[in-house]
Amino acid sequence: MSSLTITPKGPLRGTVHVPGDKSITHRALILSALAEGDSTIRGYCRGEDCLHTLSALQKLGIPIEIEPDQVHVSGKGLWGLTEPAEPLDCGNSGTGLRLLTGVLAGQQFFTVLTGDASLRSRPMGRIVTPLQLMGAHIQGRKGGNLAPLAVTGSRLKGSDYVSPVSSAQIKSAVLLAGLFAEGETRFSEPLQSRDHTERMFRFFGIPFDVEGNSIRVTGGQSFQAKDLFVPGDLSAAAFFIVGASIVPDSEVRIPNIGLNPARTGILDILTEMGANIQIDNQRDESGEPVGDLVIRTAPLHGIAIGASQVPTTIDEFPIFCVAAALAQGKTTVTGAEELRVKETDRIQAMATELKKLNVAIEETPDGFVVQGGSSLQGGHCQSYGDHRVAMAMAIAGLTAESPTVIDDTDCIETSFPGFHGKLLELLTNSN
Ligand code: S3P
Repeated sequence: MSSLTITPKGPLRGTVHVPGDKSITHRALILSALAEGDSTIRGYCRGEDCLHTLSALQKLGIPIEIEPDQVHVSGKGLWGLTEPAEPLDCGNSGTGLRLLTGVLAGQQFFTVLTGDASLRSRPMGRIVTPLQLMGAHIQGRKGGNLAPLAVTGSRLKGSDYVSPVSSAQIKSAVLLAGLFAEGETRFSEPLQSRDHTERMFRFFGIPFDVEGNSIRVTGGQSFQAKDLFVPGDLSAAAFFIVGASIVPDSEVRIPNIGLNPARTGILDILTEMGANIQIDNQRDESGEPVGDLVIRTAPLHGIAIGASQVPTTIDEFPIFCVAAALAQGKTTVTGAEELRVKETDRIQAMATELKKLNVAIEETPDGFVVQGGSSLQGGHCQSYGDHRVAMAMAIAGLTAESPTVIDDTDCIETSFPGFHGKLLELLTNSN
């Protein structure tokens, strides 16, 4: 099990390229597999999460050729998947497992989906229940709430599901199952979650309707393959955005970042806290907004975040806690209880680990209270096997008075291979 030692240093300077967007890559792979014909996906995320989805699709009979910067997927059409000879291992990826379960529920064969210990402890009832309402036959541990999930494909019927949770993973599992269902499938959620699936449906020409936070899709519509471009992942960029904001005298350029408004909460929140974030060259690529970011150090102040801001910032709370720790004054987060069912309980993990660095942070049932502005000390931290906790603690360590060791950092590979090297490069540029 590897660890990272972060020696406080600065500034961060230069240009850094981050991996392709993880959410978009999962969807690009899945929809290209279901399309008629060949697609090339450029700029895909090579993190382990997406590679697990890629390999699951290969086991489902889809030829995929892998190159360093692009993959070629030979789509076999809506009904072209075939029964895999072994269980599909989704690794650490909730998105991979949940979206694939949606696809597999409507097939004419049997599949088992599983993952690592973290994924096997995450709630699956949230997708199993709506899929069962469509007629899916899914079994799993704890009455179907935990993976491994055994899916006996069946003829699905469209349904009208109102989700109690705003979640793009639930929405996407239901909409993907809807492609195989008889009639119309409707999904509604309290607040809009990221809409990459809907944007990619549009890109591939799959018709659907949107009405507020409700989406309707009709099953049985085949679609043609198309080449796609995946922008850089804002959730990966966020570590350098916060790093450059809090390490004095920094200036970092991060080109080619996805700026989907359902994902840019962290930019809005940091800007409100006083961050200096410039967005250049805004454009559209494969149906997603993209731009180049330039971040310069700026003094931050505390802020209050409520439930309505949570979906657009959902994956950025670990690194946001670090920004709050370095900001002057008090920061509160409420309505973020979903953080407790991510790769780890991120409320507990960040509160425990930041306290080790002398941060005044207290967890609440649905968020945190951080009293920012005190000097950070180095410490010995744990990642809990969560890539975003590991990277957030690495950035926090840059501002501490002495070195910080973070244990169990192999997990960074799930989303951001090469993270440490890129961080060191930005630090070296300043010499
Ligand atoms: C994702 C949706 C979010 C996010 C996850 C990726 C997706 O999860 O936290 O990292 O690609 O659909 P929820 O939809 O469960 O909030």
